[in-house]
Amino acid sequence: MPYHFSLSLSLSLLLFTCFPSNSLSNQFCKTEIGIGEVGCGIISSSSTTKLLIKGGTVVNAHHQEFADVYVEDGIIVAVEPNLRNVIYTCYPLVALGYLVGDDVKVIDATGKYVMPGGIDPHTHLAMEALNTETVDDFFSGQAAALAGGTTMHIDFVIPVNGSLTAGLEVYEEKAKKSCMDYGFHMVITKFDDIVSRDMEIMVKERGINSFKFFLAYKGVLMVNDELLLEGLKRCKSLGALAMVHAENGDAVFEGQKRMIQLGITGPEGHALSRPPLLEGEATARAIRLAAFVNTPLYVVHVMSIDAMEEIARARKSDYFPKCVALFSSPLPSLTFIKAPRNLSFGTVNRVVKCTSTTRFYSRHIGQRVIGEPVVSGLVLDDSRLWDSDFTTASKYVMSPPIRASGHGKALQGALSNGVLQLVGTDHCVFNSTQKAFGIDDFRKIPNGVNGIEERMHLVWDTMVESGQISVTDYVRVTSTECAKIFNIYPRKGAIIAGSDADIIILNPHSSFEINARSHHSRTDTNVYEGRRGKGKVEVTIAGGRVVWENNELKVVPGSGKYIKMAPFNYLFSGIDRADASYLSSLNAPVNRFKSTT
Ligand SMILES: *[C@@H]1O[C@H](CO)[C@@H](O)[C@H](O)[C@H]1NC(C)=O
Ligand SMILES: *[C@@H]1O[C@H](CO)[C@@H](O)[C@H](O)[C@H]1NC(C)=O
Ligand SMILES: *[C@@H]1O[C@H](CO)[C@@H](O)[C@H](O)[C@H]1NC(C)=O
Ligand SMILES: [Zn+2]
Repeated sequence: MPYHFSLSLSLSLLLFTCFPSNSLSNQFCKTEIGIGEVGCGIISSSSTTKLLIKGGTVVNAHHQEFADVYVEDGIIVAVEPNLRNVIYTCYPLVALGYLVGDDVKVIDATGKYVMPGGIDPHTHLAMEALNTETVDDFFSGQAAALAGGTTMHIDFVIPVNGSLTAGLEVYEEKAKKSCMDYGFHMVITKFDDIVSRDMEIMVKERGINSFKFFLAYKGVLMVNDELLLEGLKRCKSLGALAMVHAENGDAVFEGQKRMIQLGITGPEGHALSRPPLLEGEATARAIRLAAFVNTPLYVVHVMSIDAMEEIARARKSDYFPKCVALFSSPLPSLTFIKAPRNLSFGTVNRVVKCTSTTRFYSRHIGQRVIGEPVVSGLVLDDSRLWDSDFTTASKYVMSPPIRASGHGKALQGALSNGVLQLVGTDHCVFNSTQKAFGIDDFRKIPNGVNGIEERMHLVWDTMVESGQISVTDYVRVTSTECAKIFNIYPRKGAIIAGSDADIIILNPHSSFEINARSHHSRTDTNVYEGRRGKGKVEVTIAGGRVVWENNELKVVPGSGKYIKMAPFNYLFSGIDRADASYLSSLNAPVNRFKSTT
């Protein structure tokens, strides 16, 4: 794989060298659709598709270096120190001196970080709920994202009456006004032969490689265990990733009735009706059913310690520390590693002692469970749901609920030590008029908070500024891991030659401040109102175009591309061998003689 990539890369460099392209496509602002408040940026005829980002620290998920980045026609062409003088060489012939011409826009990134644009794995733009629709559509939500350093998102297609193809058509229409790249997950609400067939079409023809199952929202989106099992099996056979919203919907329904009976009808009733243990239960159940089917699982919006601990346990569940004699009978799918003499393991703190003639073994990884915290869960707590002002309290209503203080800090820890892998937002905004539908009954408050614009800043400030994760880890949890899980790496999630030019420049010495007056979302409230912090995204480049600079957005509806995502991501490797070793371990069926009496 890496070999092919670098091969095609050098080929393209060669072509570029010997046949310089003169492409300046200017089809901007043609579309009339949904220009919105942000406005269509004026892009003059002198605008360029060639960019040179100079003097910054280029950060990828596993490496950072001082380097310049040269971009042409939406693609990163070179990442090397001192690109001013030699942009490329016509290898293996001669090195061609190439001075940066007038048609190259040079951006100074001295003292700043040059990083892959953020990818938000979890958003809901233009989503209908409770007879209304989120106020951010594919244009305003994406414009907000770009202003905050996110250059791609993956949204959830909701089926129409259970039909996946009808649902996708609706979302394709909604996404026509996109101004940045996007992909889709697909929600599954029922299961029959048609859904099963359509899942295959989605994966093989439509570029969708993940399906989401709601264990909550009884009577609306919720699926039972039978359906979840069918879905997990189908996902496995297609190489698609199963995702779950993990809360026990039957118990939530019971909890809601209990609150209403107690006369608790305000936003605090929302939190009280669906406590962390219901999230823990559903997370544990989904994890065990995924283990039973032996297929990878992605748990969306992990909001509580209860759910996080289930994920932590599952991810190390395959460790059976043991010493085996060297050259003992082969154990398929087990990885032998040389062990230190004494090993402590897990909570039981078992000490394993290996002699010089034995080796320690374990399976190479635990259960393949991905945990996604969202920004609101990492940085907020539930105290505001008790605010005496309904507008203030109701803006924090989302599911699973924002938890009591303490959960967020634990989730931050889990993100820093790898128990949780990537950060989403669940950006799903309803304005104060819409939230007021539930003024007499918290069950009628549309669920959702903002975050698509704030994620990159808040993760930087909360995790990097505080010293909890490194700058390279920041790139991993905001971009690269998402690209890998959804199989679009290294086209996305990396600053290397050949990748899409989705790039941000973050100034660690600058600062940000969040409020509803200056944000770019269409909603009139912000759950992070008044927050300030260190680190500011000063430039966003999407598809090779500078779309955010000097606090100004220049976005074009219709310029975003649909990114198809292929099945069988890295989490699927070895699944077939594990299945084979399971079957061979059964010692069954046992041949028995039939009694003839
Ligand atoms: C969904 O199905 C119901 C009845 O089965 C029908 O009345 C309704 O119009 C359908 N909705 C859509 C959007 O097709
Ligand atoms: C290993 O653990 C034993 C006690 O279980 C201890 O006596 C020994 O010194 C340890 N060896 C090393 C190398 O740490
Ligand atoms: C909220 O959005 C609705 C629908 O777009 C709109 O009618 C209403 O005026 C908005 N309310 C506020 C406070 O912006
Ligand atoms: Zn969601």
